[in-house]
Amino acid sequence: RLPEPFRVPLPVPRTAVPVRTERGVDHYELVQRVADTEILPGLKTQVWGYDGSFPGTTLVGRSGRQMVVTVRNELPVPTSTHLHGGIQAPGSDGYPTDLVVPRGYRHDPAAGAKGGHGGHGGGMHVAAADWKLSQGAKDYTYPLDQPAATLWYHDHRMDFSAPQVWRGLAGMFLVRDDEEEALGLPSGEREIPLMICDRSFEEDGALRYPSMDPSLTGAPGIEDAYMEGVMGDVVLVNGAPWPELEVDAARYRFRILNASNARRYRLALEPGPREGASFVQIGSDAGLLRAPLRHKALPIAPAERFDVVVDFAAYPVGSTVTLVNTLGEGGTRRVMRFRVTRAAKDDSRVPSKLADLEPLRAASAVAERRFDFRQTTATDGTPVWTVNGKPFRSDTFAARPRLGTVERWRFSSDFHHPVHLHLAHFQVVARSGKAPLATDAGWKDTVDVRPYEVVDVLARFSGHRGRYMFHCHNLEHEDMAMMANFQVV
Ligand code: C2O
Ligand code: CU
Repeated sequence: RLPEPFRVPLPVPRTAVPVRTERGVDHYELVQRVADTEILPGLKTQVWGYDGSFPGTTLVGRSGRQMVVTVRNELPVPTSTHLHGGIQAPGSDGYPTDLVVPRGYRHDPAAGAKGGHGGHGGGMHVAAADWKLSQGAKDYTYPLDQPAATLWYHDHRMDFSAPQVWRGLAGMFLVRDDEEEALGLPSGEREIPLMICDRSFEEDGALRYPSMDPSLTGAPGIEDAYMEGVMGDVVLVNGAPWPELEVDAARYRFRILNASNARRYRLALEPGPREGASFVQIGSDAGLLRAPLRHKALPIAPAERFDVVVDFAAYPVGSTVTLVNTLGEGGTRRVMRFRVTRAAKDDSRVPSKLADLEPLRAASAVAERRFDFRQTTATDGTPVWTVNGKPFRSDTFAARPRLGTVERWRFSSDFHHPVHLHLAHFQVVARSGKAPLATDAGWKDTVDVRPYEVVDVLARFSGHRGRYMFHCHNLEHEDMAMMANFQVV
């Protein structure tokens, strides 16, 4: 009963407009609410969306220009909104216990974070003083003191990020700047975000997720069979199943985000162009590259982004080009399709020099720390996902980096764990002692640590002091305690 692929046109989420501008600060408002949408043709799907849409409204900010986003929560549950890749003060970072509580909701701090997850959160702990509740709405302040980049925002509620993002609480967030605009990259109709995520559906069209308590108001947890994360059998791009996009025979800029809870993809074009590479990468998670990189395929783990240019002039008019996932099979092997409809003028370019990007030197690191991401067994015998053997506690710190310094952090793992640092952007310098992948280039905030691999990054802690977190961005692992704090001092 799954839909035929490539029948639905690719939707492009609406771009937010400020509700007002005061003293050079742009104010936006997002309302989190329940909405009925049509994802599978002919069926109704209830989503939880920012502005009732999935993906949420795209926010577009300017480097160096402050933005304030008021998030109003009209959902039946608490939320916390994190701007992923954003450099913002702790109070606006969407810490998991910094909640926006719907009006009239009785928050029971004892209900979550006490080893729920059908036992999989064993030992997770939140200090009573760490719950911070805003009634109804909260203002998030984003200074955007960072270069042009493809960021995204999503829910980060303690114990419940995975089911709440699955229901739709995620959107794109673009930062622009003058340098980027001067490059002449494809823009307007030819610059399109592609938020890729997998979902499963019930017969009636409802989203299917194995929560122990589907109301998400009681004890957290998923069924035992999903320790490795929840994956779906339908691939959505911008919320539509295996959509199709009609394109001119010209260059397009795609901001690709893997917003899946747990699925990794290896994206490729079929057929590839007769000459040249399928993808010209111009940006990574946290900004533009120094120079474009050519790739045949893009491995992309949850929360990673690739800013790429694809030139459809390499294909004859009338042809179709499929974006596939070579790690998938059946339905999850296809992602979307492009149909090249006409020859067209193309004034865009991809200059050989993109941005000033200073490669960090290993010698600049003032400290070296190791973090092992691994499944261990809690004292009661249940499996639990941990960082350095410990499940998350809100009141302990795994590191205290000094503001303005660079540190070398080494991640090891027993499985695929996409490791994400809040606040600090980093450069990947080694994978198991060897050179990083070509697709690891640039400033990043998430790196896929593969099974039994050791990944070294140089991270820069700049912008703000205070408590931030780092964690596995497999959202089920995150909800199952694979998080830790650091304190910037
Ligand atoms: Cu995108 Cu802490 O998350
Ligand atoms: Cu993980």
